[in-house]
Amino acid sequence: MNNSVAGFSKLSKEDKINWIANQYFSTPSEAVALLKNYWNADEKIQKLHDEFIENTVSNFYIPLGVAPNFLINGKYHTIPMAIEESSVVAAASKAAKFWSARGGFKATVINTEKIGQVHFIYKGDVSKLELFFAQLKSKLFDSTENITRNMQKRGGGILDIVLKNKTNLLPNYYQLHAAFETKDSMGANFINSCLEVFAKTLKEEALAFESFSEEEKNIEVVMSILSNYVPNCIVRAEVSCPIADLAEKHIENPQEFAAKFIQAVQIAEVEPFRAVTHNKGIMNGVDAVVLATGNDFRAIEAGIHAYASKNGQYSSLSHAKIENGNFSFWMEIPLALGTVGGLTSLHPLVKLSLEMLEKPSAKELMQIAAVAGLAQNFAALRSLTTTGIQDGHMKMHLNNILNQFEANEEERNLTRKHFKHNTVSHSAVVDFLENLRK
Ligand code: MEV
Repeated sequence: MNNSVAGFSKLSKEDKINWIANQYFSTPSEAVALLKNYWNADEKIQKLHDEFIENTVSNFYIPLGVAPNFLINGKYHTIPMAIEESSVVAAASKAAKFWSARGGFKATVINTEKIGQVHFIYKGDVSKLELFFAQLKSKLFDSTENITRNMQKRGGGILDIVLKNKTNLLPNYYQLHAAFETKDSMGANFINSCLEVFAKTLKEEALAFESFSEEEKNIEVVMSILSNYVPNCIVRAEVSCPIADLAEKHIENPQEFAAKFIQAVQIAEVEPFRAVTHNKGIMNGVDAVVLATGNDFRAIEAGIHAYASKNGQYSSLSHAKIENGNFSFWMEIPLALGTVGGLTSLHPLVKLSLEMLEKPSAKELMQIAAVAGLAQNFAALRSLTTTGIQDGHMKMHLNNILNQFEANEEERNLTRKHFKHNTVSHSAVVDFLENLRK
């Protein structure tokens, strides 16, 4: 069958759904019904979602959960988390409770600088380009005045613009490398708009620069775009307590626990295969908050993983130590988040999440997301170095298996009772259900 289609985006939503259903499904009416089943009954909300992207045919649900009891810098938060993985919210809540009894989390925003670049090709004398840039710089600021005015009122704007010679990497390759402060907005549109004006000004001014030869005047802009690598937009999250205070169920010997925990972190510091999974656990927490608060989790992921490789080898984002009988566990990660603009004022559940967090500033949200990541990492390492991860994970996953096999209420109760004291595995649950159904 020919599955190509012309003018798809121009079709009505109904026609798009019918086309997909007829094209790919043996029972098209079922596919149509399923897609429509996930439409929101409130037409206003549905229209909003339809217009977020092109070719919307339905909504794709993932759960929005909350993790209460997060004591951060002396204040309690209930953290909204959008995530599908069974054990993540439970683990976050557990870690939150554990640390709230031990002084809570401390979080500090270290800096908030964002980066944007105009990548261009200049064929000529470098010293002339440097001279040209010296007088171009103020014009770059002037030419973006109408874009930066509002941002400046909020205390942000363009912090600096430098010329970077990258010809050691690619022939004739240079950059305008600019730093921005975007306050409570993530700032992507603001930065990209500034960069496109920089690019235009760069080209125009080069044509008028008398010391340039004809070839030198012809600066070729390749692209203008923000960078999601933000090594100067860093938040630190940490916990610490006397080693003896770590004692709890499954932590009978706190000294031993702390030592093993630190070994687990050290392994992630030196071994990339482990580091990736270790950091994935951190991102379970960070992404869930980023998504629930309407931020761009792809940008955050890309930036954080690049940061994890900043010393030339992919490594753990978190670190731990014992000093003077004290256990401390911390991480510093780049997080360019926004609490105004973008989806934050559009998506009803994002608005609700931000309200639940008591309308945080971008800096406060950086702290909350980083803490969620550290909590997640603590919970994972605690399980891994004590009971193993599968025990808790599979107990949470049990519901998914029961749903997969459409277990009735009685079967569910009996299965849950049985697996309270038995190891959950997919096959063990299937065997148990099959036995029940005999
Ligand atoms: C699972 O989503 C995350 C973990 O694998 C993280 C880790 O291994 O540290 C449990």
